[in-house]
Formats: sequence, structure tokens, C-alpha cells
Amino acid sequence: MSSKFPDHFLWGGAVAANQVEGAYQTDGKGLSTSDLQPQGIFGAITPRVDGDSGIKDVAIDFYHRYPQDIALFAEMGFKCLRTSIAWTRIFPQGDEETPNEAGLAFYDRLFDEMARYGIQPLVTLSHYEMPYGLVKQYGGWGNRKTIGFFEHYARTVFERYKHKVQHWLTFNEINMSLHAPFTGVGLAEDSSKSEIYQAIHHQLVASARAVKACHEIVPGGKIGNMLLGGILYPLSCKPEDVLETQRQNRDWLFFGDVQARGGYPAYMRRYFRENGIQVEITAEDQQALRETIDFISFSYYMSGCVTTDEAQNNTARTNILNMVPNPHLASSEWGWQIDPVGLRYLLNVLYDRYQKPLFIVENGLGAKDRVEADGSINDDYRINYLNDHLVQVAEAIDDGVEVMGYTSWGPIDLVSASKAEMSKRYGFIYVDRDDAGNGSLERRRKKSFYWYRDVIQSNGNSLKDKA
Ligand code: BG6
Repeated sequence: MSSKFPDHFLWGGAVAANQVEGAYQTDGKGLSTSDLQPQGIFGAITPRVDGDSGIKDVAIDFYHRYPQDIALFAEMGFKCLRTSIAWTRIFPQGDEETPNEAGLAFYDRLFDEMARYGIQPLVTLSHYEMPYGLVKQYGGWGNRKTIGFFEHYARTVFERYKHKVQHWLTFNEINMSLHAPFTGVGLAEDSSKSEIYQAIHHQLVASARAVKACHEIVPGGKIGNMLLGGILYPLSCKPEDVLETQRQNRDWLFFGDVQARGGYPAYMRRYFRENGIQVEITAEDQQALRETIDFISFSYYMSGCVTTDEAQNNTARTNILNMVPNPHLASSEWGWQIDPVGLRYLLNVLYDRYQKPLFIVENGLGAKDRVEADGSINDDYRINYLNDHLVQVAEAIDDGVEVMGYTSWGPIDLVSASKAEMSKRYGFIYVDRDDAGNGSLERRRKKSFYWYRDVIQSNGNSLKDKA
């Protein structure tokens, strides 16, 4: 395939602090919501007891092994690594005035290591792990005060890393709070719609304040949002199905509309009004929201369908978003439907809607890998998945969509978010650790490692039109 990728395309991979670092109490780190969910983002909230080690406590020990891992990423030719800062390393409880120097120093070391290889960081300020102290003392994002705590944290890290990090993201998959309120906004799972949307509103204001702070502090810095790109198709062409699909897509596009356009869309005000949802939005909030993001980033794993047919609605639903399955698509072992063309469609939808550069910051296949007797891991299924998605990215670029980069999810095996499993592997690099936490943590290159290295080296020329 001849390359359609621009010259400075940011090829790389994406991880998140709570899924790789481990060291959950090292160097003064406080407890985060993720530390209290050893079974994953939908799992029960478990009080911490010493010696009780959920798999995330060590994760893949990136906190100590990052030099080796960055060297492997460099070997693949990464231009960019998306990671997150664990807020609780910087402000262990969340409401401190003074940051924790040991936490700040860790990310200095990490970014310096990346710089040695010319790998640019793309940093998420908050990836599914707010300080538990803020949940306990203040009620999480339900409390307006959390906006101020977050802004203080954002300003602190912008000041500290302003010469090391150019690209930032505010909240990971900000629309996920509708499905996992504890993880997203620190609220109980049975919170009312009004409570959840109020917390989301506070987070949207905090996101806009971080955008403003980034523009003030980081010279030439660019900051984006991060959406879970769960694109939905109508299951039939019945007009009611099409309209319902539009409504459900707006459930998540709403977040992008506020962050990219600077205010609440009219359809959301109607939704609030008709569903008795009360959200306090002050004039000051409205002013803050006018500070819009520079680019849109999103994750994409699957698409799903929508129908108004009750019988079909009640049939088995798949994946974390509980979507109605598409009869034309195959699924991963975890029931996530594989739809490369959907990525081209989504890129076009987002670009048509926002006319801002797009960054694909997560995409990949979670699968069980087998280590052969000779130590090799032949993950052709992963290569095929990624190849087919990247071909569609190239098509979207040809359609005229401005795409800044592509960071595949989990370039090194890590702990999965939804169920805290090691066996759901995304990596080009295998990590010897199982779901029970057994294993040497040794790293090993998979077949896809060499494949991705070639893709990057050829700037996409090595991709095959059909895998
Ligand atoms: C996204 C998250 O939802 O999908 C990541 O931003 C997550 O944190 C990824 O790991 C894949 O989901 P899972 O459950 O397979 O890890």
C-alpha cells in the first residue's frame, strides 16, 4: 500500500499509569479509586488491607522497569508514547497545597528516558484513577470543590513538565462516567441521573480550566479531550431506529460538543428538561467552558447497533457498552465486535462535526496469546486486526481527515481495565504474568513487534490492503 500517512505522523502506543506502573504505595503515592477496585472498573469497591494484593498493585512493574520498556518501544521506532500521570503520586489525597516531590521526580525520569530516544509523550491528566481522598472527603466530582483541586494539579504538572511534554489530554474516556460512575466521577453506581450529570458538568468545567491553564503555561502546548468512540449504527433503516441511533450517539458526542464547541448543545438541554435532570450551570461555568480543546482524541475498539424493537433489544448484548450486536461483524474473545470500516466512518463523523485534528489514542485487540515451545508468540490475529484498522485510517486521511497520530492500546501487555485481567493481552511485547499474579514479569517480543516496527519504519507503506 502506498503511504497516505503524513510525514510527521505520531506512531506509537498508549498505556495508563494504573494499568502498568504498580508500586501503588511507593514514594508517597496515595490510594486512588483504581486501587480500590481490584476486579476492574465495574468491580466492587474493596477496602484496602495490607497484604491484600490485587493484580494492579504490581501490574507490570513499569514503575521500576520503564527504562527497559522504553528501549523496546524505541526499537519499534515509536515517535510517541501515550501515558498518564497518576494524580495520587502528585497529590496523594487530592486536596494538598504542596505536591509530592517524589511523585513529580518519577515522571521527570520517565519523560527524560523517552526524550533520550526522541519519543514524544502524550500525557493524560486523569485516566480512571482519581484520588480516593477526594471521594471520601468531598464526594468526588459531585462536589464543585473538586474542580479547584484538579486545576491545581493540572497547573502543577504543566509548570513542572512544560519543557518536556507538548501534548496533553484531560480526562480519559470522559463519556464513560455514564456507564461507570465510580471510576469516572467518584460517585456510587446507583447515583441518580441528576447527580451523575452534575458531576460530569463539574468535570467538563475542570477540563476547560485545564485547557486554559495549558495554553497559559506550556509554550506551544496542545491539549485535547478523550472520548470513548462507541459509534452506533441503526440496526434497520426504519426512521425511528435512525432517530434513536442519533439520540444514543449524542449521549457520548455531547461530551465532545461541550469540549470542542464551548457550550451545552440544545438537544442536551431538552434531554435534561424532559427527564427531570437538574444541573447547576453558573454563568461563570459557561464562561469557563468557552475555552475549547485543540484536538479531539478518542479510543476505538468496536461499533454497535441500536434498535427500537423491544424483542431485539432484549436479546444478548455484547461488550462493556451493552450494544446490540451487528449481524455482519465477527467478535473478539471478549465479545467486542471487530469493525475496521467503522474507524474510517468514525474519523469522518468526528472531523465533519468538529473540524479539528484527530488523534486515535487507543485501538487494539485484547486476545489470549500462546507462548510456543521455542518461546515465540505468533499473534497473527493481532496483526490482522491492526493492519485492517490502519488501512481504514489511511482511507480516512485520503478522505481529507486530519489525523495527528495513532497510539495502539497496550503496546506492552498490561492489566485490563474492565476486568483487571492479564490474560486479555494487547501487546507487541509479552509480559510473563498471569491473572493470579504468577510469573517472572520477563518481557518478550511477539511476532507483531516486528510487524509494527516495519509499519512505522515504512510510514504505513508495509500495510496490506487486506490482511
Ligand atoms: C479503554 C480504556 O476503555 O479501553 C483503557 O481507556 C482500557 O484503560 C481499554 O484498558 C481496553 O479495555 P480493557 O477492559 O480490555 O482493558
